[in-house]
Amino acid sequence: MSKFTLPKNSKVGAGKTHKAPAGAKRVKSFKVYRYDPETGDNPRMDVFEIDLDQCGPMVLDALIKIKNEVDTSLTFRRSCREGVCGSCSMNIDGTNTLACLKFIDQVPGEVKIYPLPHMAVIKDLVPDLTHAYAQYRSVQPWLQTETPAPDRERLQSEGERAKLEGLWECVLCFCCTTSCPSYWWQGERYLGPAVLLQAYRWLADSRDEKTGERLDQLEDPFKLYRCHTIMNCTNTCPKGLNPAKAIGEIKDMIVDRR
Ligand code: SF4
Ligand code: SF4
Ligand code: FES
Repeated sequence: MSKFTLPKNSKVGAGKTHKAPAGAKRVKSFKVYRYDPETGDNPRMDVFEIDLDQCGPMVLDALIKIKNEVDTSLTFRRSCREGVCGSCSMNIDGTNTLACLKFIDQVPGEVKIYPLPHMAVIKDLVPDLTHAYAQYRSVQPWLQTETPAPDRERLQSEGERAKLEGLWECVLCFCCTTSCPSYWWQGERYLGPAVLLQAYRWLADSRDEKTGERLDQLEDPFKLYRCHTIMNCTNTCPKGLNPAKAIGEIKDMIVDRR
């Protein structure tokens, strides 16, 4: 029988409030999603008041300050703090983005921080990306050739190299995939914009010699054709990339080879 109500433990409750230190002049509140499956408790929203005079400018700086100075149990991914590793993706102020690229000053009022939407949560701001990575592996994201390797590298013309612009910069943060309504409903089978952009990155590479096999693998009503050009993906990409265009290019390649 269909269930139309959410399970009880999906309700997000009010959490603790951690006040700013006495004497703080520039106080900003950060309302952060907390969830620890080991406790059996419902998720909650904790509020952390931070003195911006004692904090770096980015949302990631605030999270690191909270973890270092207020609550060491706060859990999130991060590594480069340069927008390069893709690990600090989360939903900030209603938009999927990278915490290290989001200026605190860009958010008016309280900063609300949730994990990437529509993914199982491992803890706090850490989503379970196991399935998304398995989908990434499925497109075989590495150079594949049949001709013997030359003595030196496989060369490209400037024009051939230019076709990889807007593709190689993807940091696999999955901000786009988790903003895509088609992926929310059919993510088990639809590959989603991040993986499809990566798939196109190899289709567009003049050195790759498995174009036919790659297109065979993608020509599937679910893997590719669940994209309905809603454009959430492109609108949210913190690196300014255009996954919807890459998906369109794959569809064009499939039409062209017929
Ligand atoms: S354009 Fe396609 S991939 Fe992007 S959000 Fe829309 S349906 Fe998803
Ligand atoms: S296309 Fe943009 S949003 Fe999507 S995974 Fe790559 S960098 Fe992240
Ligand atoms: S910490 Fe690497 S992208 Fe934000």
